[in-house]
Amino acid sequence: MSSHIEIANKFSEDNILIIDFGSQYTQLIARRVREEGVFCQIIPYNKVSKYIINNNPKGIILSGGPSSVLGIETPRISKEIIDMGKPILGICYGQQVLVQQLGGTVVSSEKSEFGRANIKVVSSCSLTDQVWDEGKKYQVWMSHGDSVVEMPEGFDLVAETKGAAFAVIANEKTKQYGVQFHPEVVHTLDGKKLIHNFVKKISLCKTTWSMESFLDYKVDILKNQVGFKKVLCGLSGGVDSSVTAALLDKAIGDQLVCVFVDHGLLRGGEAEEISSIFKKRLGSRFINVKAEKVFLDALQGVNDPEKKRKIIGNKFIEVFESEAKKLGNIEFLAQGTLYPDVIESVSFSGGPSVTIKSHHNVGGLPEKMNLKLVEPLRELFKDEVRILGEELGLPKDLIGRHPFPGPGLAIRIPGVITKDSIKTLQKADNIFIDEIRNADLYDKIWQAFCVLLPVKSVGVMGDSRSYDNALVLRAITSVDGMTAEVFPFEHSFLNRVSTRIVNEVKGINRVTYDITSKPPGTIEWE
Ligand code: XMP
Repeated sequence: MSSHIEIANKFSEDNILIIDFGSQYTQLIARRVREEGVFCQIIPYNKVSKYIINNNPKGIILSGGPSSVLGIETPRISKEIIDMGKPILGICYGQQVLVQQLGGTVVSSEKSEFGRANIKVVSSCSLTDQVWDEGKKYQVWMSHGDSVVEMPEGFDLVAETKGAAFAVIANEKTKQYGVQFHPEVVHTLDGKKLIHNFVKKISLCKTTWSMESFLDYKVDILKNQVGFKKVLCGLSGGVDSSVTAALLDKAIGDQLVCVFVDHGLLRGGEAEEISSIFKKRLGSRFINVKAEKVFLDALQGVNDPEKKRKIIGNKFIEVFESEAKKLGNIEFLAQGTLYPDVIESVSFSGGPSVTIKSHHNVGGLPEKMNLKLVEPLRELFKDEVRILGEELGLPKDLIGRHPFPGPGLAIRIPGVITKDSIKTLQKADNIFIDEIRNADLYDKIWQAFCVLLPVKSVGVMGDSRSYDNALVLRAITSVDGMTAEVFPFEHSFLNRVSTRIVNEVKGINRVTYDITSKPPGTIEWE
C-alpha cells in the first residue's frame, strides 16, 4: 500500500479515487480514467477514511457491486465522506448508495434490467455536456435489480430508460452525479466521453499520467529505495519480468543481476532469443542457468499433473536460490507484480475457492527468501506494462508475447515427458505460431499453443501405414485468463496448419482443434 500512496502523492494534484463495492467492472473504470491521462486508485469501500479523501482525490467514483442497498448489512460509505465536498460519480450500485445516503429512495424493481438499453435524455448537465442532446436517445449498458424511485433533495433528472426512471441524476451545485448504467463498459457507446467529462471537466484533473512521466518518476524512486545495494531479478522472458528487469537496469544499472533459469521446457528457440536480447542489454549481469537435465531428471516417469507442477516449482526455487547464494551480498529481490495482483478488491476477496491447479508458485519464487522486495510495476495494468516496455526500448515481439505458464511445455504433454516429446511439441508449436503470425492473427489471440497427446492413431502417408501421436491445437481469446473463448479460425487456416505439421513433424500423424471454452475447460490441459 505504501508505494500506492507514494505514487498518489506525486500525482496527487490530479488523481481520482475509485471506491470499490465489488463490481466485476471496477478495474475497467480505472482503465478508463487512466486512458484520460489521470492516475487513479481503487480502494475497497470499507477501507475509505476521511484522511484518504482529504489527501488524495480530486474526484471520487463509486463502483457498481453485486449487493442490494436494501439489505441490512450492505456495503456503504458514510454520509460524512459523501459530504466532504469532492465531486462524486456513483455508478449503478454506487448511484444507489449515493441516493440512499442523501435521503432518496431505492426499491427492488419487479424486473431486472440487463444488457443494452435505450436512454432518453430529458435535460442537460455537466456530465453529459457535449455528449448527449436533450430529447435524443442513446445506447447504454444496464445491469441492475434495484432502482432509484425518488431523488435526494437538490438533484435533477437528466435521463431515463424503460427500466430505470432515474437513469442519470445530477446535483450541479454539489457536483454529485448518479448513473444507473455502466459508462465503463464499451456497450455504453458514449461511456468514455462521460467519464472524460467527470474526470476533466467536473473534477478538473489535468493530464499528468503518462508512461514517460511514470518512467522518470519510478527511476528516481528505485534509486532511492535501493541505494547502493544489489538487486536480483528472476527473468522468465515474459512481459512482466522483462519490463521489470529493463526498468531496474535503467534505474540502478550495475547493481542489477538477472537470473534466467532455462528448464528446457520453453518453446523452440525461445531460450536463445531471451538470452540474446538480455545478454546484449546486461552483459555479464545476465546469468543463464542451463538446468534442463536437472528438471528432466526430476520429471522422469512422472504422470500426474499436480506432481509435475510441484516438482518443477521446487526445482525452480532450488536452482534460483543456489544462484543467489553464489552471487552473495544481494539485498533485494525484484518481482513483476502488477496492479491487478495487489488491489484489495472486494470482488476478489473472501468466498470459498478450490485449487483447480497449483499455479502461482510454479515458475515463481518463494515467498520467504530473506530478501527485501522491489516491485516496480505494482501500480500498472498489463497493457500499461507493455507501453512502459516500449518506452524502455524492449523489442515489440517480446512485449506482445502471449502468456506462457511457469511449468512450460511439461503441462502441454499429458503423461510422461521425454526429451523427444519436448522436441516434437516444439516443432509443431513453432509451425502453429508461425502460421498464426503469417495470417496476421497473433495479436488478435490471447494465447495459442499445441498439446502433444500420449495417444497414437493409425494413418496413411503415401503408401505406408503410420502409427503416431495426435496433436491438439489450442487458441483462445480472453481478457484476464479467468474465462476464455475459442478463437474462430477459418477452416482453410486449420487445414494449412494440419498439413504442415503432419508433413514436417516426425511423430505426429493427426491434428485436432480444441473447441472447449473456459469454463468448463481450463486454458492449459494440465
Ligand atoms: P488455466 O489453464 O488455469 O490457465 O486456465 C490460465 C492462465 O494461466 C497460465 N498458467 C500459468 N502461469 N504458472 C504461470 O505463471 C503456472 O503454473 C500456470 N499454469 C497456467 C495459463 O497459461 C493461462 O494463461
